[in-house]
Amino acid sequence: MELSQDQIDTLLSAAQSAMEKAHAPYSDFQVGASVLYDDGTIITGCNVENASFGATICAERTALATGVTQGKSVIKALCVSNMTDTKITPCGICRQVIWEFSQTVPVICSNKDGDYKILTIGELLPHAFDLKSVE
Ligand code: THU
Repeated sequence: MELSQDQIDTLLSAAQSAMEKAHAPYSDFQVGASVLYDDGTIITGCNVENASFGATICAERTALATGVTQGKSVIKALCVSNMTDTKITPCGICRQVIWEFSQTVPVICSNKDGDYKILTIGELLPHAFDLKSVE
């Protein structure tokens, strides 16, 4: 889908706001994510860390799980931001979770200044695991 500059700017600022809510006392690496759904709704998430490190949930998965809870699953765009100069890309687990909801979605990968690059989930995760394709 072709994203308008307005949609990109709205997703960027929503991800940046969500980042402020991050619970990241162990890494001190705050991440925010925002997801645009087919009905125009934007749902956000932040990373939620845990003293048992493996229990940590990334910002992207927080947002997507919230979307499911609200009955939404058709995603049109996802944005991830953080508080460094680096335009971060979603981790491997998050790529597989994003792919669950769309095999073509554009992912806006941004830094603290709102600079961004856009990659599709197919570019980020070639050869995703697809249970439907197992014979
Ligand atoms: N993190 C995310 O929230 N999203 C990603 O795609 C990469 C990593 C979080 C997990 C952890 O709380 C912190 O960043 C450092 O890895």
